[in-house]
Formats: sequence, structure tokens, C-alpha cells
Amino acid sequence: MASNSTPSEIKLEIVPQHIAIIMDGNGRWATKRGLPRLAGHRAGTENLRRVIRACVEFNVKYLTIYAFSTENWARPVDEVEGLMHILEEVIDKELDELDKEGVQLKHIGRLEQLSSTLRKKVERSIEVTKDNNRLTLCIAWNYGGRDEIVHAIQNMIKDGIKPDQVNDALVSKYLFTAGIPDPDLIIRTSGEMRISNFLIWQGSYSEWYFTQTLWPDFDREELFKALIVFNQRDRRYGRLSECAEEDENNAG
Ligand code: FPP
Repeated sequence: MASNSTPSEIKLEIVPQHIAIIMDGNGRWATKRGLPRLAGHRAGTENLRRVIRACVEFNVKYLTIYAFSTENWARPVDEVEGLMHILEEVIDKELDELDKEGVQLKHIGRLEQLSSTLRKKVERSIEVTKDNNRLTLCIAWNYGGRDEIVHAIQNMIKDGIKPDQVNDALVSKYLFTAGIPDPDLIIRTSGEMRISNFLIWQGSYSEWYFTQTLWPDFDREELFKALIVFNQRDRRYGRLSECAEEDENNAG
């Protein structure tokens, strides 16, 4: 990779199979422009479309976005309602297009606290796109990493799982993300450097990328910059580089 190439001239050697994003900074983006916070969430939603397209272009197979956390219920009612409305609008307006583009939709989190109309729309969008395989877009909505683990433990107990049957692989199967590979790269925009209850199990060995850029401004070029940084990382998984490389070669 030539270090003086412009992003579009650089060829990526490794493309992360799964990118997860904490889309932070919508509120600040709006405030800086004298706009209401919801205008920032709308701009963030517009940007999501650009980033989905870029992921398809770069051949990323899974994109998980943190769109509404279990803690976001504590925001003012009009912001919470506005976000729910945005999700509903996105499904109504974008589902056909996403389906045509080969995007499979998945949801992680708890649907039961959403209105029954919204819940049905989410369920239908998952059903309609279930055979698509160009990109899996996993929407974390009413999602919290701790809540996910609590939910998994409750279900293991309900299923009568015995203590000696519990291992890494079994826990993974009980998480909302069952069947989805762990994220290779987690991006957080807006300069905050916190995990904020996002994919706390799945992100154990993810590479993190933090940027000052606010989410509505995090475009294709910004994503490409993150991919270049990812290419420079040495993923050791707690081992020495040579062993990690050897294992990856044997696996692939
Ligand atoms: C964080 O920025 C952003 C959110 C809590 C909401 C993200 C949601 C969207 C982009 C809506 C679209 C998503 C879908 C799937 C339709 P913040 O509001 O905390 O920003 P701040 O830290 O600057 O206040």
C-alpha cells in the first residue's frame, strides 16, 4: 500500500468482514447549525444510506449499527418518538430499494417495547429480505450489551442448560447476534472513546477506530480511511504475530 496515494487509489489488502458502528454526534451536528436535535438524526439517517452503499462497494459483508440503545429511552420523549418515527419512515420508504440492492436486514435488541405497528414493520422487513446476501445490515434497536447477556442467561436457564454445558460457543448462540460473525472493526464517531454497552461480548477482539468526525459527516472517504488504518493493525488475539498469522492461513 503506497503511503502517498489518495484514498481512492489505495488497494485494500484486507476488508473487514464485519464492521460495527456507534453513530455518534448527530445532536452536536445539529446544534452547531442551530437546528433541533432531530434534524441531526435525519442527517445521520441520510448518511447511513451513503455508508451502506460504500460497504457494498468495498465488499463488507456485515454492517451493524447502534441506532437506539436500552439507555436512549431516558432521552426527552419527543426525541425518542422522533427516532421511532425515523425508523418507521426508513422501513416504509427504503425497504424495496434495500431489498433490490441485496441487503438483508436483521435486528438485535428487544422488540417487545416497541409499538406493535413498528414491531410488525421490523419483523416484516427481516422476513422480506431474509434470502439476500450482498450485505447484512444489522440494526441494534433497543439494544444493550448487558441486557443481551441477561436475556441469554434467562433463556439458557429456561432451556435447562447445565453448568458444564456452558461455554463460549453456547453463550454466543444465545445472544441476539447468533449466527453473525464477531465484528472485526468497531468505529465510533464524534471523538467519544467509550464502548457504551455495545457488543460487549462480541467485541472482545475487535479493532477499534475512533474519529472526531460527527456521524452525519462520516462519508465514504472517512470509511475508507478507517479501512486503511484497519489494514495497518496487527491482530494478535493475545498471541504472538507469527502464531496468529499461521492460524489465519490454516483457517483460510
Ligand atoms: C447518537 O448521537 C445517535 C443516536 C442515539 C441515534 C442514531 C440514530 C440514527 C442515525 C437514526 C437512523 C437509524 C435507523 C436505523 C433508521 P447523539 O444524538 O448522541 O449525538 P450527540 O452526542 O452529539 O448529542
